[in-house]
Amino acid sequence: MNISIFGLGYVGCVGAACLAKLGHKVIGVDVNENKVRLMNEGKPTIIEEGIAELCQEAHDKGLITATTVAAKAVAQTEISFIVVGTPSSKEGHLNLDYIYTVAGRIGHALQHKDEFHIVAIRSTVLPGTNQKVGEIIEQKSGKKRNVDFTVVSNPEFLREGTSVEDYFNPPLTLVGTDNKLAEQKLRELYKDIHAEFVCTDIKVAEMMKYVNNTYHALKIVFGNEVGNICKGLGIDSHKVMEIFCKDKQLNISPYYFKPGFAYGGSCLPKDMKALKTLARDLYVDVPVIESIYQSNENQKKNAVETIISKGKRKVGILGLSFKAGTDDLRCSPIVDVVEQLLGKGFEIRIYDKNVRLSELTGTNKDFIMAKIPHLQHFVTDDLHSVCQESDVLVVTNKEKEFANLLADYPQKVVIDLVRQWKEVDYNGYYEGLSWGSINTNPAQAEQVAQDFKRTEF
Ligand SMILES: NC(=O)c1ccc[n+]([C@@H]2O[C@H](COP(=O)([O-])OP(=O)(O)OC[C@H]3O[C@@H](n4cnc5c(N)ncnc54)[C@H](O)[C@@H]3O)[C@@H](O)[C@H]2O)c1
Repeated sequence: MNISIFGLGYVGCVGAACLAKLGHKVIGVDVNENKVRLMNEGKPTIIEEGIAELCQEAHDKGLITATTVAAKAVAQTEISFIVVGTPSSKEGHLNLDYIYTVAGRIGHALQHKDEFHIVAIRSTVLPGTNQKVGEIIEQKSGKKRNVDFTVVSNPEFLREGTSVEDYFNPPLTLVGTDNKLAEQKLRELYKDIHAEFVCTDIKVAEMMKYVNNTYHALKIVFGNEVGNICKGLGIDSHKVMEIFCKDKQLNISPYYFKPGFAYGGSCLPKDMKALKTLARDLYVDVPVIESIYQSNENQKKNAVETIISKGKRKVGILGLSFKAGTDDLRCSPIVDVVEQLLGKGFEIRIYDKNVRLSELTGTNKDFIMAKIPHLQHFVTDDLHSVCQESDVLVVTNKEKEFANLLADYPQKVVIDLVRQWKEVDYNGYYEGLSWGSINTNPAQAEQVAQDFKRTEF
């Protein structure tokens, strides 16, 4: 395939050399004449293992050239990658000036091109950038997105130091697009890269790199904080983390990675507190571990605020224990939510098939009696009456008996804390605690979108 690459820095240079290795013909574009000259001489613009050999080989085969002239590169290629820098602004926002300049140049060049053109954003950009790039190209070219050209998001996952190796062995190939032809082209382009090809929504793809990098940073500081506590105790932290990583069920696994409600129960809150206090006793600073509690409290506050925002007073709570299939109320986060709503004068009805007040014993009973001593006035074992009498239904666990709720009560406000449904087609108002709308019903999706309108930045 004929490919142009805008930006011959770290990512652009590696991309150019590796795509040429895969047999594609690449034209690099950069405003820096020195980088253009280097590429035209078969030399890399960066230092990285294996890159010099790849550039030389591609040059010898006539597979890489470079230019400062955008129009030439666009005219001769079917896909243009944008891999210019996206530095931070003074205030910490993303500076997208280079991206938008390139979009303008590609748009300008497309005025004179009849064939369909694919623009692939490989730089790290925040959600919404793809759409803006499309608008700039439409404006400059006078052409129409998804008729004459399209813009896909194809974030780069390489790490400096092992970037050539990473290019050929990425964790996955991710493409965000709303265009079938572009999907086909990119599948073909990457067919020799041995990684799962994931095609998704544009904004999901744009979000991924930030989620990945933030998580990687979190892993590093978490490992360091655990290490510092271990050091304070004279324990070998490497042995600890080695064993930590052996648990592929709960630790290194998709488990717990589902946006939803706060954690609770008899273990996590207690053990978090104990480790935090131990660190304090050792005079070891653990700001990340300490902030976990606050983040969890915020999630309960989010639930309370979401319920209040609906402007209705009759609230049905479906599930009171800390997780489905148990009657354990100790540190159940929904108990805190109920406590706050009662304090604000809400009319609360609670249903939980596992919680029998007369059968509660020990610390379980002590906990709930201390929090909500008159609980018996709100709890019933009649799911139907709770649903009928409440205007807002709050689903707090994934009990199967809640699965038909939307069909049985088609006009309620439903607040889902646990992603009980993957997608809903609902006449009433549905809102997920950490995902907003998954309603395919156009009127309701529009209503939720209005509610979530944020200030543009
Ligand atoms: N470096 C990494 O490890 C890495 C990994 C993954 C993703 N990324 C992301 O990829 C993007 C590029 O990163 P990088 O490290 O390659 O940046 P870089 O600064 O090394 O290279 C950017 C290049 O773009 C060129 N450029 C600027 N304006 C241009 C224009 N109008 N036309 C053509 N070229 C222009 C610059 O001269 C420079 O050569 C960033 O968004 C970055 O966050 C970087």
